[in-house]
Amino acid sequence: MTAREAPRPFRPPWPINQFVLPRGLLGRIAGEAMSFFNASIEARAIGLLDLTGDERVLEIGFGPGVGIRMLAERLGRGRIAGIDPSQTMIDMASSRNRRAIADGTVDLRKGLVSHLPWPDASFDGILSTNNVQLWESVGSDLKEVARVLAPGGRVAIAVYAWIAPRGGPPFDEYLRDALAAAGLVDIKVWREWVRVGPALLARAVKRSLI
Ligand SMILES: C[S@@+](CC[C@H](N)C(=O)[O-])C[C@H]1O[C@@H](n2cnc3c(N)ncnc32)[C@H](O)[C@@H]1O
Repeated sequence: MTAREAPRPFRPPWPINQFVLPRGLLGRIAGEAMSFFNASIEARAIGLLDLTGDERVLEIGFGPGVGIRMLAERLGRGRIAGIDPSQTMIDMASSRNRRAIADGTVDLRKGLVSHLPWPDASFDGILSTNNVQLWESVGSDLKEVARVLAPGGRVAIAVYAWIAPRGGPPFDEYLRDALAAAGLVDIKVWREWVRVGPALLARAVKRSLI
């Protein structure tokens, strides 16, 4: 990737910051809103992973756990992991996925995209919805995502257009370049209407070893 100005992470003021790092009662209210409004964009991102039922999938920034639940219902023989820095979201997602956590299908951890606590090539699919706008450094964070993706694995990123990072070049272009710089191939970045509004979607693949 050429040296370009990096997009700025989305840092809204109170009370909208409850969608950045939800905390306490207001964070739970934000979580309920996300559960209601964002189910379709979560489903759309999951659809981009072309899952067949036995994959290992990671969701980055799972929020209230709606996407994790969809994955658990879809992956009869698979494994689902999630990472999110908000204890309030971990609590909401854990109660929404209590049974799948108890039977070992779902593993939710506290942390940031920048330090994923899994070994290289741990996942066949990785998704992030309404989360990439919060990453401190999209370029280096995508390299961390590519590290834990297995050869042949897919990445899906979806974000509402109105919260996509600003500053520097259009985020579509920046994201395409950053996915390529992370070593991913078959990159597609496009815009599409997803139930509540226009969204930016991206899909890429980690080159297979054969
Ligand atoms: C706007 S919510 C989106 C939640 C859910 N994916 C959805 O679309 O409804 C953003 C989530 O990302 C989490 N988050 C914030 N910064 C993060 C980071 N650097 N790495 C991973 N997750 C992060 C927040 O705690 C929050 O749960």
